[in-house]
Amino acid sequence: MKVGGQHFRTIWLKPEDDRVVQLIDQRFLPHRFAIEDVSTVEQMATAIRDMHVRGAGLIGASAGYGMYLATLEAAQSGSFNRHLASAAAQLNATRPTAVNLAWAIERQLKSIAEGKIAQDNSENSSRARIDIARQTARQIAAENEEHCRMIGEHGLPLLQEIARKKNGKPVNVLTHCNAGWLAFVDHGSATAPIYAAHDRGLSVHVWIDETRPRNQGSKLTAWELGQHGVPHTVIADNTGGHLMQRGDVDLVIVGTDRTTYTGDVANKIGTYLKALAAYDNQVPFYVALPSSSFDWTLRDGSKIPIEERGAGEIKNADGWLDGRQVEVRVAPEQSPAANYGFDVTPRRLVTGLITERGVCKADEKSILALFPEHAP
Ligand code: MRU
Repeated sequence: MKVGGQHFRTIWLKPEDDRVVQLIDQRFLPHRFAIEDVSTVEQMATAIRDMHVRGAGLIGASAGYGMYLATLEAAQSGSFNRHLASAAAQLNATRPTAVNLAWAIERQLKSIAEGKIAQDNSENSSRARIDIARQTARQIAAENEEHCRMIGEHGLPLLQEIARKKNGKPVNVLTHCNAGWLAFVDHGSATAPIYAAHDRGLSVHVWIDETRPRNQGSKLTAWELGQHGVPHTVIADNTGGHLMQRGDVDLVIVGTDRTTYTGDVANKIGTYLKALAAYDNQVPFYVALPSSSFDWTLRDGSKIPIEERGAGEIKNADGWLDGRQVEVRVAPEQSPAANYGFDVTPRRLVTGLITERGVCKADEKSILALFPEHAP
């Protein structure tokens, strides 16, 4: 999508040196647009863990590139396979909830292992494995972008149908956190239908939950929708229910960090409460996701690992002052705080899933009908 009129993706290989990955460092948005050069597995692990990059799709793409960097390092180490395995473990340990992380690492390990490579650990075979890993990282990123574009195409009719019923009055979408292009390589998941509708001249307005504690809504979603010219309003996290009671929300679209193949949805903390409010007010509640965000092994959403983060994110608030990021204390210093990053919305509260292959119900039969290759 565009930043200051120029097209950007969130991650790419440095054009003049493809041993370096470049990514948008999201820690300083919306106040400063910064690009970070990453050339080691250690740096990529830090970028994922400390949320220079975040959002399930982008975490997966970053892990894919991280594994490519691992092959570069492995070629210089005494044991290629041992180095690769330890890099995979290091990247895997960065964040627990987004399933795209393990998915991308597994995919890299599989394509490197299946590549036609002499097993003698010679320089030639290392070079072949590096080439495969580079190609796979690029494929993961390109697929991520294309799947999000297709989510936009499949989600668009939902907004068009509402617009038709409203005789051209703005369609009001509520979203939580950032499942925009900043959470993927491009387009986003929850935002893809919104961008598709806006680009085709449909009148759309987005209510953006600020999404405490890290404010991915007010910082990132508001910034990227603003860059694209999509009308939006930032609201406090607890406002959604009130807006739904007033009839000011036509539909909710959120992303997900991991959805079971039975349709239970893990997403940023607070999503469940929005789903309850939507259910109570008969507001359609959709989850937009690429197939890489399904967990094809998990039947029960309560088994999804939920990340717990530091108390500082709850007790403090940060913002921009005199050209730099500053943090101030809000809660009493002595008070303990609990910081659960995600919650699970049970499938019964989900109207439908918007995927790259179409829209389906949030249940095992409908999901596997769209993705039969994952049927047990
Ligand atoms: O902690 P984050 O920022 O990595 O959380 C991920 C998210 O942005 C949301 O949960 C999002 O809605 C789903 S990821 C596409």
